Amino acid sequence: MARISASVFTSHVPAIGVAIDQGKTREAYWQPLFDGYAYSRQWMRDNRPDVIFLIYNDHATAFSLDLIPTFAIGTGAEYLPADEGWGPRPVPKVVGHPQLASHIAQSVIQQDFDLTIVNQMDVDHGLTVPLSLICGEQPADGAWPCPVIPFAVNVVQYPVPSGQRCFNLGQAIRKAVESFDEDLNVQIWGTGGMSHQLQGARAGLINQEWDNCFLDQLIHHPATLAKVPHIDYVREAGSEGIELVMWLIARGAMADVDDPARAPVVKHRFYHVPASNTAVGHLILENG
Ligand code: DHB
Ligand code: FE
Repeated sequence: MARISASVFTSHVPAIGVAIDQGKTREAYWQPLFDGYAYSRQWMRDNRPDVIFLIYNDHATAFSLDLIPTFAIGTGAEYLPADEGWGPRPVPKVVGHPQLASHIAQSVIQQDFDLTIVNQMDVDHGLTVPLSLICGEQPADGAWPCPVIPFAVNVVQYPVPSGQRCFNLGQAIRKAVESFDEDLNVQIWGTGGMSHQLQGARAGLINQEWDNCFLDQLIHHPATLAKVPHIDYVREAGSEGIELVMWLIARGAMADVDDPARAPVVKHRFYHVPASNTAVGHLILENG
């Protein structure tokens, strides 16, 4: 049986990818941010999974106003880093896991969540920056530590899914993983956020108090956090802060959601402002 061993939560910011790709991680602006991920890179070496199920959002890269899937699961064999305007990031291609991804699609759709099935797409900074942060720098002709199943959520074009729906979906994903025959160690990653707003009168908004409260609630009271309406995210965490609903999918996939005796172990917690226009938050939870 496959099982979910841990969940990882992290912001993505395109400038973090640029700092890595241009060798700037030791510069004064960036060093405190990358130091906050040193534990995580070691943890990843010590706890290498067989597959990462990576929840992220596409930023009008693979999708556009022509086609807006709310939830899209990558069932393909591989995905190339996208060209977001400055050429593709010099990082390895992402190798998928079509067998597990197809099984999850079958199971989750039969649990009444409508997923779009994607066999071909390029992956943007929403997916590659979290991989770089946690797995460390990888040469473009190298490989990421394990296969990755991309799971894209629409948080860009309204209407976006509610926190409650994301949380429930996470529970369905755990059931799907646990009904896969092969003995696989799967990590589930929730990415995006934390508070940021990139445009309009409130551009530059950061809300440290709200972000830290979100992290506390995510760890200890995820079912209560799931009830927060999307307007609160936008009001408190800015228009792009809505990316945080994706963290509830990964949290909903943890064991304690059905079994309160299995509270997750907090292996690492980090918060840093700013990275470009964004407050960076990061958590590693292991199933207890
Ligand atoms: C920034 C953050 C994002 O989440 C994003 O998708 C693009 C830019 C930023 O802070 O610059
Ligand atoms: Fe983003």
